[in-house]
Amino acid sequence: MRIAVFPGSFDPLTNGHLDIIRQASPLFDSLVVAVAHNSGKTPLFSMEERTSLIRESVRAFPNVTVDSFAGLLVDYAKDLGAVAAIRGLRDAGDVDFELRMAQMNRSLYDQCVTLLVPTNAKFAMVSSSLVKEVFSYGGDVSKFVPPPVFESLLKRKR
Ligand code: PNS
Repeated sequence: MRIAVFPGSFDPLTNGHLDIIRQASPLFDSLVVAVAHNSGKTPLFSMEERTSLIRESVRAFPNVTVDSFAGLLVDYAKDLGAVAAIRGLRDAGDVDFELRMAQMNRSLYDQCVTLLVPTNAKFAMVSSSLVKEVFSYGGDVSKFVPPPVFESLLKRKR
């Protein structure tokens, strides 16, 4: 059974993330979208909200499940038996950080390869933080996030 993990903050999940899931999930028997407990960031959505919004948004992908983890990604990947960690690349600006993280993870645990998957160019400018910022100023973010995330953003505003 070939398992891959797609780790991230997903605060919230965007259509860019969904595009990565769409590309990576057919390559593995199982793809686990894993939401990181990140003590360094104060999220807009709670861990429960993030995991349930992802679950609602990935219903069309039969081999995709959703989980959360605390601590090092490599420890989680080892426990899961994941052979690959998937990360999305929007543009060249992402490369330095993602490469450094991939190399660090490899030096800690070399049984899980990081695969950097380019997003569709139409999502190059989509990030969770920009979605939150645009929405907070009243901008329409409906085309950047899956419907359950958009509905949840609207509910928060009311
Ligand atoms: O969506 P993000 O915020 O870019 O995701 C970053 C994430 C969660 C993948 C990264 O911060 C991570 O793996 N955190 C877990 C702790 C860890 O393993 N840190 C060392 C990374 S080299």
